[in-house]
Amino acid sequence: MKKIGVLTSGGDAPGMNAAIRSVVRSCIYFGVQPVAIHEGYKGLIENNLEEVNARSVANIINQGGTFLKSARCAEFRTPEGRAKAFEHAKAAGLDGLVVIGGDGSFTGAMLIEKEHGLPCVGVPGTIDNDIFGTDFTIGYDTALNTAVEAIDKIRDTATSHNRLFLIEVMGRDAGFIALNSGIAAGAEEILIPEEDHSVEKLMDCLENSSRAGKTSSIVVVSEGEKIGGVVELGRAVEESFPEYEVKVTVLGHIQRGGKPTCADRVLASRLGVAAVEKLLEGVSGVMVGIRDQKVVTTPLEEAISKHNAIDDVLLRVADIVTV
Ligand code: F6P
Repeated sequence: MKKIGVLTSGGDAPGMNAAIRSVVRSCIYFGVQPVAIHEGYKGLIENNLEEVNARSVANIINQGGTFLKSARCAEFRTPEGRAKAFEHAKAAGLDGLVVIGGDGSFTGAMLIEKEHGLPCVGVPGTIDNDIFGTDFTIGYDTALNTAVEAIDKIRDTATSHNRLFLIEVMGRDAGFIALNSGIAAGAEEILIPEEDHSVEKLMDCLENSSRAGKTSSIVVVSEGEKIGGVVELGRAVEESFPEYEVKVTVLGHIQRGGKPTCADRVLASRLGVAAVEKLLEGVSGVMVGIRDQKVVTTPLEEAISKHNAIDDVLLRVADIVTV
């Protein structure tokens, strides 16, 4: 391999810069020319490619976001879009491509490899931690810590006013951020999409909290929970608990920004090296991930189609510590 391209795609995640840096510097280390692709697959379609060197990625390991920018590209979902992208990859002399992103980005990588033979390796970068084949995705640890810090602050004011807060966190269809931030911030109840919840069950839980002498409560609600939205839930709770003042906070995109944590920087550095090594070994069509502290590969097809289950042990812990 003489040239390897790197792009970030889908929702940005803290640590993506560290992953790009690692890919670029691994290329240099192994004598390969790294090529940065701006704005994800859109940049490949629009021929927004640039040969870079080790210094191009200086001083970015500590920065959130992605300096290459990211995009969700509808055109790349079409065979015509992918053909156009491949023409530019071929013209630039790319022998391989590292795609840093989530499952939508990996679907694109899998298709361009299948249709045009461009070897691709995926690196899991999303705050949602919802990618099969890795214990952790890049950005998850940072997002989790951001959520916990925010919930801690809300707890200060909730306690001061005897209020009940419903706090929505991100995660799309996965409850990892909600469950873990909820446990870490001492939430009274945690609502995640992987479990069946109901307004009645939530009321029971809040009634128990009130009976146990709690004067304020925090409920962490994953954005993907199925009862019907945090605002509606807030209204329903308010009607049943006139003694509580109910407040709703949506943490939103604050969870996507900020300096990556040490764990995310190390993970990104490890996976960036592994992605380049795999391409050089002739392994492609896979995602590199981390399982039990070891780098592993998973076929992109499997990474896309399967899901990590929520840990039952954590669910039990969450139940026990809220008595
Ligand atoms: O996948 C990351 C994520 O932040 C999800 O948690 C969230 O549902 C979604 O992206 C938001 O997407 P956007 O930034 O396009 O609104």
